[in-house]
Amino acid sequence: MLELLKTRANVWALQTLGRDRLDYLASNTMTVVNRKVNDFLWTYELKAVCTAVRDEAPGVKTFTLMPNQHWQGMQAGQYVDVTIEADGQRLTRCYSPAAVDGSISITVKRTANGWVSGWMHDWLRPGCVVGLSQAQGCFRYRGQDKLLFLCAGSGITPVHAMVASLLQAEQVPDMQFHACFGKAEDVIFADVLRRWQRRMPVDIALSRETAEGYVTPLTVENFEQRYPDFRERDIYLCGPSGFMDGMVNVLTELGYNLGRLHTERFTLVDNGGAGEYDFQAAPPEIRFNHLNLNVQLTAEDRGLSLLEVAERHGVPLESGCRKGMCGTCKLTLKDGKVSGNTLGGAVYLCTSYPDSARVVLDA
Ligand SMILES: Cc1cc2nc3c(=O)[nH]c(=O)nc-3n(C[C@H](O)[C@H](O)[C@H](O)COP(=O)(O)OP(=O)(O)OC[C@H]3O[C@@H](n4cnc5c(N)ncnc54)[C@H](O)[C@@H]3O)c2cc1C
Ligand code: FES
Repeated sequence: MLELLKTRANVWALQTLGRDRLDYLASNTMTVVNRKVNDFLWTYELKAVCTAVRDEAPGVKTFTLMPNQHWQGMQAGQYVDVTIEADGQRLTRCYSPAAVDGSISITVKRTANGWVSGWMHDWLRPGCVVGLSQAQGCFRYRGQDKLLFLCAGSGITPVHAMVASLLQAEQVPDMQFHACFGKAEDVIFADVLRRWQRRMPVDIALSRETAEGYVTPLTVENFEQRYPDFRERDIYLCGPSGFMDGMVNVLTELGYNLGRLHTERFTLVDNGGAGEYDFQAAPPEIRFNHLNLNVQLTAEDRGLSLLEVAERHGVPLESGCRKGMCGTCKLTLKDGKVSGNTLGGAVYLCTSYPDSARVVLDA
């Protein structure tokens, strides 16, 4: 009860005073006592309080989180790190908010035996406070005119955020949307998708049953028929690894320019480490086309990822998670071979390694 009252007061303060004014007030009145009384506002850390929980589909819940005054906002499609404390352990996982306004909504699928998703489903209630990071990742809209969104399962979250914000824009781009789920009852954001169908082409596919109002999953055979002008569109892809690999194979087979494919992974990829390339015989040369830079590797670069190599040689590249998930470091392979974490023509530099005498990369 006390927690709920405190939450209401905190949310009221954030909405009424605004984050900047509250930051000024809290940082100028910070004492040990008020930190103890209300460590959500009297803190230098970014935290969020849960204000609502909603059942979305079996095993899927949406949690509305109100970040405190340290929140700097985000672009639709990006993700945040959420930190919880369970059984004396601090655990952090990434979540892509499906909706972004003054608060953020994360939609979490319970993973079998998963620590954080399981804890959230069982214990995260209005009034609970969790740790938060600023928004990260480069899976976001980049001003293109024609778009195709492909997603499956909980991978709908970042693309939902993007489409929802684009539908409110002054100039709405030409968008098509395909979401795949197992059964009709698994569909996440079913009401929203049906509403969107009045404004843009939205296909909902089922992979484990057939039902009226739903389509079959995408294949090489039906893709072009469903999306005849897909080669003119930038494609945003997010979902379980099997779905993503399948879509990349379909697009590769249909000759799509993978440089226009934007991806977000939710799971760590076992990148297999460095390949068999014989560094000693001929240390590779890496060309970064978009920067007009060539880097000649030396024996010391052996075993380093392409991102580490680039950093060691002063090549200015962006990076984020450094685990092969966020896509911030991703470049396109134009020539040569790399081993490790690739998806179609995209190379996740932080978890990929040179595997031929010359490797050419481009933005
Ligand atoms: C950029 C990004 C955005 C994301 N956005 C979302 C989102 O919007 N919604 C969403 O639902 N998820 C999202 N995820 C996934 C999310 O971060 C978590 O990975 C997911 O919730 C599972 O976390 P968990 O702690 O419940 O599972 P974990 O405890 O991390 O377990 C993951 C898997 O490992 C297995 N496992 C755990 N411990 C062991 C062990 N000791 N031995 C063997 N197997 C084990 C579990 O059974 C489970 O299958 C996103 C991930 C990324 C990278
Ligand atoms: S994928 Fe995140 S930094 Fe490489």
